[in-house]
Formats: sequence, structure tokens, C-alpha cells
Amino acid sequence: MSFQHVEKIQNIILIGFMGCGKSTIGRELKRLTGYQFIDMDAEIEAREKKSIATLFAEEGELVFREKETELLQEFRAKGLDHSVISTGGGAILSEENRNIIKSLGYVVWLKADAQTIYHRTKKNHSRPILQTANPQQVIADLLELRTPLYHECAHLTIEVKGLNRTEIAGGIIESARYFFSQHDT
Ligand code: S3P
Repeated sequence: MSFQHVEKIQNIILIGFMGCGKSTIGRELKRLTGYQFIDMDAEIEAREKKSIATLFAEEGELVFREKETELLQEFRAKGLDHSVISTGGGAILSEENRNIIKSLGYVVWLKADAQTIYHRTKKNHSRPILQTANPQQVIADLLELRTPLYHECAHLTIEVKGLNRTEIAGGIIESARYFFSQHDT
């Protein structure tokens, strides 16, 4: 499947809470479109030569948030195109980030409820924010805080529960194709 015939900036940006499948769907979109795939967390880890968990532990969340903003600024400055970008779950927290995300292309919110997120994240210990005594409460609180911010950015919202990666990626591609044919991004 190709978008090559449309001469506009074409990026697909995946936003959403931890555990909603942004990286998995990003890789599937790369496979289906031939676009390059950038996983922001992985890119920051490669540049900093340390895991997100180590970065949080050694330098704190604020430093990590600065790295996220710098990376988004870089995407915009270099006119990134034909790319699928998977953002970290908190990338929408700052207004500057949200404005850049919206300017980069077609923004897709992968959405799940708190219970689904808890079950999908509980065995993975790589996310510092969820390494607490009561991750279910943290998920509920952060979801409440972040939901309006995801909503503000999203051109498309997909409830991921009950859908497989092929169905989700296929839906994104069809609606992105329509978006790119209608909008100058
Ligand atoms: C975070 C989500 C993580 C990662 C970091 C902080 C968050 O990304 O950026 O641990 O604040 O929600 P994923 O959403 O890819 O897990």
C-alpha cells in the first residue's frame, strides 16, 4: 500500500497511554506503508545510551521530558516526512509538544480503559511511572489527567480492545489516506 502519489507532508503520529500498543502498531504501519518508523522512547534511549528507567532514576523525569521536546522540535525543524512516529505516553503533557505533534501530520490516539492498560503493563517493569505500590491508582489518575490532552491532539481515535494489529493498522491507513488527500499539513 502506498501514499506516494500525494505530494504533502505525510507522517502518522501515534499517541496514547502506556500499554495501548503504539510501538507494535507503529511497526505494523511501517511494514504496510514502507514509511520509516521512529519510536521516540527507543530513539531517546539510543541517543542517551541508557534505558528510560535509568534516565528517570539518574536524571529525573524532567530531563526525560526535555529530551522528548527536543526530539519533537528536531522532527519539525527538519521537515520529517513519510514517517510513522510512536510517542511516549506522556509526550502530550506539554502544550509545546502538543502543538508540534499536531503540526507533524495525522495524529492517531490508541485508546484503552484503565483495566486493559493495567493487564497489558503489569508484567513489564521498564516503565518507571508504573513501578509503584498501586499502579492501578496511578493509571486511573493519569488517564483522567491525560485523556483531554490525547483528545485535543487526535484526528482519529481507535479503541484498541478486541482489535488485532492488522485491523488497527488497516483502519489507520485508510483514514490517513483520506486525511492526506484533504489536508495540507
Ligand atoms: C511514559 C510512557 C513511556 C515512556 C516513559 C514515560 C509516560 O512510553 O515514555 O516511561 O509518562 O506515560 P510508552 O507509552 O511507550 O510506554
